[in-house]
Amino acid sequence: MNRHQFSRRVALTVCTISVLCGQTPAPSLSIELNHRKAPVSPALYGLMTEEINYSYDGGLYAELIHNRTFRSDWSGVLNWFLLQKGTSAARLSIDQHNGPSAALTRSAKLEVTAADVKSPAGLLNEGYWGFPVRTNTRYAGSLFAKASSPDAVPVTIALVANQSGKVLAKTSVTLAGAEWKQYSFELHSGEMATASSENHFELLLDRPATLWLQLISLFPPTYHNRPNGNRVDLMEKLSAMHPAFLRFPGGNYLEGDHIEDRFDWKKTIGPLLDRPTHPSTWSYHSSDGMGLLEFLEWCEDLHMDPVLAVYGGYSLRGQFVKPGPDLEPYVEDALDEIEYVTGSAIDTKWGAVRARNGHPAPFSLHYVEVGNEDQFDKAKTYDGRYAQFYQAIKAKYPNLQIIATTPVSSMTPDVLDDHYYKQEQGMFDEAKHYDQTDRKGPKIFVGEWATREGSPTPNFGAALGDAAFMTGLERNSDVVVMASYAPLLVNVNPGGMQWSSDLVGYNALNSYGSPSYYAQVMFASCLGDSSVESSVGQAGERFFYSATASSSKLCLKLVNASSMPQPLAIALHGLAKGSAHLAHVSTLHANTTWATNTIDEPNRIVPVHSTVTLKENNSSYVIPPYSIQVISLDLK
Ligand code: AHR
Repeated sequence: MNRHQFSRRVALTVCTISVLCGQTPAPSLSIELNHRKAPVSPALYGLMTEEINYSYDGGLYAELIHNRTFRSDWSGVLNWFLLQKGTSAARLSIDQHNGPSAALTRSAKLEVTAADVKSPAGLLNEGYWGFPVRTNTRYAGSLFAKASSPDAVPVTIALVANQSGKVLAKTSVTLAGAEWKQYSFELHSGEMATASSENHFELLLDRPATLWLQLISLFPPTYHNRPNGNRVDLMEKLSAMHPAFLRFPGGNYLEGDHIEDRFDWKKTIGPLLDRPTHPSTWSYHSSDGMGLLEFLEWCEDLHMDPVLAVYGGYSLRGQFVKPGPDLEPYVEDALDEIEYVTGSAIDTKWGAVRARNGHPAPFSLHYVEVGNEDQFDKAKTYDGRYAQFYQAIKAKYPNLQIIATTPVSSMTPDVLDDHYYKQEQGMFDEAKHYDQTDRKGPKIFVGEWATREGSPTPNFGAALGDAAFMTGLERNSDVVVMASYAPLLVNVNPGGMQWSSDLVGYNALNSYGSPSYYAQVMFASCLGDSSVESSVGQAGERFFYSATASSSKLCLKLVNASSMPQPLAIALHGLAKGSAHLAHVSTLHANTTWATNTIDEPNRIVPVHSTVTLKENNSSYVIPPYSIQVISLDLK
């Protein structure tokens, strides 16, 4: 069914409801527009991210060179290959004692012993499952190099099609001298280049020479043209979610497998040359191109509040730091981090560092989270660790809200981070979870949640579970102040995924939203500032709803997770008697729960927009089977 046919079907279903109602009275959904119940948090919907599934490297962070710092293992230099064309001869090794900075102490040593114009030699980089080349596109590159002799060494740099060997963009850079220097270059793809990711990067010499190379980098155009910035298509998809906040940098990625592998923020700021890179918990290495400042600039670009997770003294494989003097350096590190985010560029040490890194203006910060999923700490040290961080942070920043990752017994945390990963039925059940929550306890941040059905991205059944769960969040948003789906991103190439069911999928060239993504976009597109008194009659077990309103609009979320239509008689008490109101309806629908979107068929399940006229009393309405709907009604 195409969108047009679907809109007609929705309209027809609405028209024929009186017939249905004639048979069995439709349950009444009564909304009391003048009885506002509880506040809805304006920050309810946000994003959670970490380096998982090639979320940043090979994902949002737009760098195209894979392993720009020439890491190697027993198999050789990762993602790089030696090129010896024609009769040329060359060697590639890692020089362990020759690097351009204290952080990058090694480099690639390229020894070309025979080469000429017809038989050049050099290096090939495979990219993150290819290089995206599009028509008329400019790529900004740079590299650090030094040579064994003072003679000028011209190198040719190109993007080349894997199959045909066709050169799609090419430039030349002349390297010279025995000192490390940075060189910049640009590549332009021409009119004739068709969009493809089946390409690679080449760096070639047409004469014998010995070079040391480090930090070879290439960026396509980025969102807001930020240097060292983010991929445009992914940022646009995230922006459409209207996220209020970004929880970063994890997740497990914050903790690291071991203490030394944690997200050590001081090693992620400043020039790339000063970032040593580090192993992530998700089986691949992080370039740390997405460092603390880049996270904050991402927030700035999408108008999100940072929710800063600081390392709390516990790492994934069970290592922990005892509360007390041992923990003190980590607490100090968190205080420095908060100062880096919020401090004045003029009179704070870390604010001044941020300014030197290119961002003089401080960022606003309201929430700091201590650690991640500390319920897994078998030594049960979180109570002490949380309290120590809490006291130190509050002493300096009394207005910050400090989020605990698991309940603590010695005090009531400001906010508690709850996580839910369940299948469809599990999430239907959880839709009521917060209905009974004690309002005198801590506020709740649902920092990670997802209905886990479908891989690499969730299917429509998962979207139904998500939507049902979100109705519960909205109904209880006086206590649930923030919520973020996780994981957010996945590179769908083989080997790209470490965690199935991720909101947005992509390869080097394209990206797509899962049905769950569209459910998020729809729910965040209409959110009132308070929940509204409401009740429903005997609707089906798989019917879920929420009603929120502001002074200007009513936002009604309707979820029919069953295979049968759900008739309703909608009563909007408080609307002027006899008046008819045109409401906008977004519908996400599929014929089966396993239907889904993919990288090749990204638009199978997308929201369809229609209108419906609603009146004060008993508007006959039918929610089609397997449907998520958001109805926005202008109250002015
Ligand atoms: O979202 C994937 C992982 O799930 C997160 O890293 C961790 O916090 C949780 O266990």
